[in-house]
Amino acid sequence: MRTRLTELLTIKYPIIQGGMAWTSESNLVSAVSNAGGAGIIAAGGRDKEWLRNEIRKTKELTDKPFGVNVALLHPNKDDIVEVICEEKVAFVTLGAGNPLPYFAKLKKAGIKIIPVIPNVKIAKRMEANGADAIVIEGMEGGGHIGTQTTMAMMTNIIPQVTIPVIAAGGIADGRGLAAALLMGASGVQMGSRFLLTAECRVHPIVKEKIIQATDTDSEVTGYSRGHAVRGLRNSFTEKYLALERSGAPQEALDQLAQGTNRLAAVEGDVENGSVQVGQSLSVLKEVKSVNEVIEELMEQARQTLESASKILSY
Ligand SMILES: Cc1cc2nc3c(=O)[nH]c(=O)nc-3n(C[C@H](O)[C@H](O)[C@H](O)COP(=O)(O)O)c2cc1C
Repeated sequence: MRTRLTELLTIKYPIIQGGMAWTSESNLVSAVSNAGGAGIIAAGGRDKEWLRNEIRKTKELTDKPFGVNVALLHPNKDDIVEVICEEKVAFVTLGAGNPLPYFAKLKKAGIKIIPVIPNVKIAKRMEANGADAIVIEGMEGGGHIGTQTTMAMMTNIIPQVTIPVIAAGGIADGRGLAAALLMGASGVQMGSRFLLTAECRVHPIVKEKIIQATDTDSEVTGYSRGHAVRGLRNSFTEKYLALERSGAPQEALDQLAQGTNRLAAVEGDVENGSVQVGQSLSVLKEVKSVNEVIEELMEQARQTLESASKILSY
């Protein structure tokens, strides 16, 4: 399948594995890139030596393009960008802050720039400043989210920019990929689907918890404070929401959330940790290899796109 995204990143399939803090590292990333998509190492919460090491390990495991995700809310973002430029990965995704101060440095290092953006205004600003593509991430997705759905973002943003748009949030099967392409996206970014892969090193208890979840089991914390995060409902989300509703100061909420991402992903504490995952849960029922996930997804997307043309002849 050829799209503007596959051309831009020189990959086989228009599928990106979204950066996932404490979860996406060399093993998962290289598997996705080897399977024809593009993996992304999540730098959020990590130090620069960890990142350098993971980039080098990924390069040993694949000769295909892969990226790094920079969470711009972290204080060590300058160091992280420095390592990315030194190690020369194919592309970066940047979110949760203003990526513009890093554009010149990344461009000079020959690294493709793909900001994660929340609205039309910022999409246009990123395009005007030379972004190579953008990720639009709807609130169906796992992790930190905005306020618009993926469908609304595709409707609002895709016609307004000329650079390739990558749709994310709630896309977990080939029908989702087909729908995004029909909406004019050049590809998709998926996070949750890749949690249930053999190569993903998120704690096995997290994988099991996701398999057990039903379609309505995700919850958004922090929505009223502009720090929305989607994950599975558990003791942590209940405590957080009670505190949020009580009008507690943001510092108290931040303190409660401190370290909970790692607690779930690394320690496997699915009650007190933040089990970040998106809303499209009913198709997440089995752990498969990354290769199987991507091949099945591509086959379903092809079938969906083929049958879509038949609708016209009814
Ligand atoms: C466990 C988890 C951790 C995530 N961490 C990050 C992150 O560090 N940086 C980021 O930009 N997005 C992060 N995301 C969002 C993903 O990159 C991706 O955009 C999102 O998962 C897409 O929606 P989906 O989960 O429905 O596939 C995370 C998502 C999950 C599920």
